[in-house]
Amino acid sequence: MSTSPLADLDDQTAELLASIAGLDSVDALRDAESFLVGKRSPLTTLQKSLGGLDPSERKDAGAKLQGARRAVQEALDHRRGELSAIARAAALEADRLDLGDVIAGAVRSPATLGHPNLVAITQRNLEDVFVGMGFTVADGPEVESDWYNFEALNIPPAHPARGLWDTFYVELGEPETVVLRTHTSPTQIHLMEEAVANDSLPIHSVMPGRCYRRDTPDARHLAAFHQIEGLVVDHGIAFSDLAGVIETFTRSYFGPEIKSRLRPAYFPFTEPSAEFEVTCTICKGAGCRTCSQTGWIELGGCGMLDPAVLEAVGIDGDEWSGFAFGFGIDRCAQMRHQIADMRALIENDTRFLGQFS
Ligand code: PHE
Repeated sequence: MSTSPLADLDDQTAELLASIAGLDSVDALRDAESFLVGKRSPLTTLQKSLGGLDPSERKDAGAKLQGARRAVQEALDHRRGELSAIARAAALEADRLDLGDVIAGAVRSPATLGHPNLVAITQRNLEDVFVGMGFTVADGPEVESDWYNFEALNIPPAHPARGLWDTFYVELGEPETVVLRTHTSPTQIHLMEEAVANDSLPIHSVMPGRCYRRDTPDARHLAAFHQIEGLVVDHGIAFSDLAGVIETFTRSYFGPEIKSRLRPAYFPFTEPSAEFEVTCTICKGAGCRTCSQTGWIELGGCGMLDPAVLEAVGIDGDEWSGFAFGFGIDRCAQMRHQIADMRALIENDTRFLGQFS
């Protein structure tokens, strides 16, 4: 009895199926597939040998071989599905963004809320002190005409005092000269004009805001800085009222250990005029780089309103008198917090600024 060419078919099929399950890449699978279903595959060779069988055996053998072929094809398809799932998972893994790290970073350094700059904080504190003394707070423009910044303040064209405030000109000459204001004093003029127009004298106001000068920044100067102006227009105002306000302010804001002094000075819009100085808080008066070895820091100027200014705005100097002062907000911040170099206020170093929240 001849051995059927299919005697080993089950073993052979099992072997093929095992080898298919072990294929570990799509390329290897493709090579295997073309061999297994191709012309030289063991199954095709068996198929050809069926021709030598008895017709009675041939039918069975044919069906068996078909079954084996189908099993092999199914095994190939199944393995292909597995391999492509593995490849997709690997691609996903490679593309994965590890949000865990991002979240961990966010927890380590949560977004922080900012806070006002020390200059803004100081401005608010200064306003509070003056409001406590009975002053109201007013605002004025940062861009001014020559009239407000100079002429109404008794500084005519070509007056030598203009050199003190020679500044950033927005327009020169016609129709009028326009400047970035060099001090907050022009706001005095706006307030007095309004009070005259509304018949609302007296005035007791402070006017904080930004000013500009062509100063080279150094330990106590910035080209864009801040002042707070004070203006009182009332009946029977004397220099002693001005000195009292300055003294009360210094104590309330800096504390009793800081001394203030008024030194005779010149401003075209006040007469008499004085410079307002406080003990340098960096060296406690001993002299240092910040105060140019003088032991004092000039905060600003003050004086009794010059009759020429009252006249420029149409206030009767026989009936009304008053005083004005104007000093640096940045300087106040510097002295109150013992900041050796004022430039730190605008350098955006959060290690410095973050101390003053
Ligand atoms: N405006 C003057 C300055 O900036 C200061 C000042 C204000 C002086 C008010 C007198 C009266 O230098």
